[in-house]
Amino acid sequence: MSDESVESVRPLERGLAVLRALAPAEPGRLRAGDLVRATGLARSTVDRVVATLAHLGYVRVRGQELHLTPRLMELGNAYLAASGLTGEVAARTARLADELDESVSLAVPDGDGVRFVTQAARRRAMSVAFRIGDLLPPERCAPGALFAQEWDEARWAAWRTRTAAEDATEAAHATEATRDASAAYPALPPGPAPHGLPDLAARVARSRETGWALDDQLIEPGLIAVAVPVRDGAGRIRYALSAVSHTSRHTADGLADAMLPRLRAEAARLARLSAVQPSPPAEGPARAPATDAVAAKADLGPGFLQSLARGLAVLRALGEARGDGLPLTALAAATELPRATARRCLHTLERAGYAAHDGRLYRPLPRILELGHAPLSGLTFAEIAEPHLRDLTDRVRQSASVTVLDGTDIRYVARAAAARVMSVHITVGTRFPAYATAMGRVLLAGLPGPERARLLAAAPPRALTARTVTETGALARLLDRAAADGHATADQELEEGLRSVAVPVRDARGRVVAALNVAQHAGSGPLAEARDALLPVLRETAAAIETDLHTAARFNTVRLS
Ligand code: PHB
Repeated sequence: MSDESVESVRPLERGLAVLRALAPAEPGRLRAGDLVRATGLARSTVDRVVATLAHLGYVRVRGQELHLTPRLMELGNAYLAASGLTGEVAARTARLADELDESVSLAVPDGDGVRFVTQAARRRAMSVAFRIGDLLPPERCAPGALFAQEWDEARWAAWRTRTAAEDATEAAHATEATRDASAAYPALPPGPAPHGLPDLAARVARSRETGWALDDQLIEPGLIAVAVPVRDGAGRIRYALSAVSHTSRHTADGLADAMLPRLRAEAARLARLSAVQPSPPAEGPARAPATDAVAAKADLGPGFLQSLARGLAVLRALGEARGDGLPLTALAAATELPRATARRCLHTLERAGYAAHDGRLYRPLPRILELGHAPLSGLTFAEIAEPHLRDLTDRVRQSASVTVLDGTDIRYVARAAAARVMSVHITVGTRFPAYATAMGRVLLAGLPGPERARLLAAAPPRALTARTVTETGALARLLDRAAADGHATADQELEEGLRSVAVPVRDARGRVVAALNVAQHAGSGPLAEARDALLPVLRETAAAIETDLHTAARFNTVRLS
């Protein structure tokens, strides 16, 4: 229970309100004026909140447009880390999805809603895939009937009030109701359930008897799902484990028959994985504690809301909680805040539904995922890289690109072209032989020796210009150098007049997953000078992309291309 004698931290409340208002919008659709309307805050307040969030790296301001950044996912990651969703859980659900050849998800109860926390999706023409952080109403999905088994009278009453209000508005003016429901549940396809809604209480009674729950096209035509509970040591439902399919592959009852034995076996295994588990490595460089906010305050003056920064530092620190949670002392120490300050932040987070405490111990709650996590978890690697490529191109006034290895080629996945006309026309999807390019060398250099040799043998180098290095020994030495130096160059080896400097982009385990380059005309001075001038900027950009990638990929699969 929260202590009413503790005052809330207003700037933290306002910052959270702004993040909520930004979250469901299409990327870049929102401007400060929209936030004023959505939150009811004064324009000057919104501006200070946005400036503070931009300084913290959670919001990117481009012209008038506001964008959430992948870095913001570190808030949701704090919840996911604390709730024991380790790499092992993700690997297990992925394996089960392979075995069943259907999408598999884990969801947790969030208020009366159902919040997705793990997804292993099969890509199919006819399937909705919910993302980590998406919220569904309990009456529209399989897990809802399981979670509602544990509702108390107050929760049932709140749910009845909400659904009755929706029915009433729907009767009055259907479009308004649809809009209301889609604002509360942005992941839900618009419109009513295709075949009407069975009574939730009846579904709950059935699932209590059988131990599983069914979604027979409660969300959209054709979509069916079956869910089983994963219980904690005390026997309470901790997750719902669901398998999702389509009526073109299974009938609803057929799905249950086909999936239940393996779903149940897996639920038993997940239940045995103890709550106290090592989590995947924390994202990027360790975040500075809240004392960082003092420096920012000095930099930005009254435009910087120090107590918003501190509150978000406390929220992130909750990510270290395991099992029952962390005491105030530990949270104050982790954030280097006075106990009283940390306590007010926690109180504010509790009031907003993002944290809870049991006796002395505080823990984060799944509602944190409403702060932009679902839209951001849909980002591809290219979308993560693009803003950084634009910044790089703005700084060096030359084209910058990111490529991945595709067989023996490099393939462009993102690019920011400089305004000046280049001699080559390159777009996303363009391929070049890896051996003749700086990016290809960085990518080949990142491979284990045998794999590198296999690729070089599969497409024996040939001269594309008079300068292309094709001799096996010389190329091997170039690749070893690239691996040792952490960069590579290519000077007019792909095309006369064009040269490039490249550095690797690594995943959280240190594997090279992509290459980043700047390409320029060969006429602009000696290559060594250009390389020395570009390398620091290239390395900084690669590090910024890596920080975002590691944050986004900590609990989520980021598609590389
Ligand atoms: C899903 O994981 O996409 C899912 C799970 C349960 C449902 C519907 C969809 O009832």
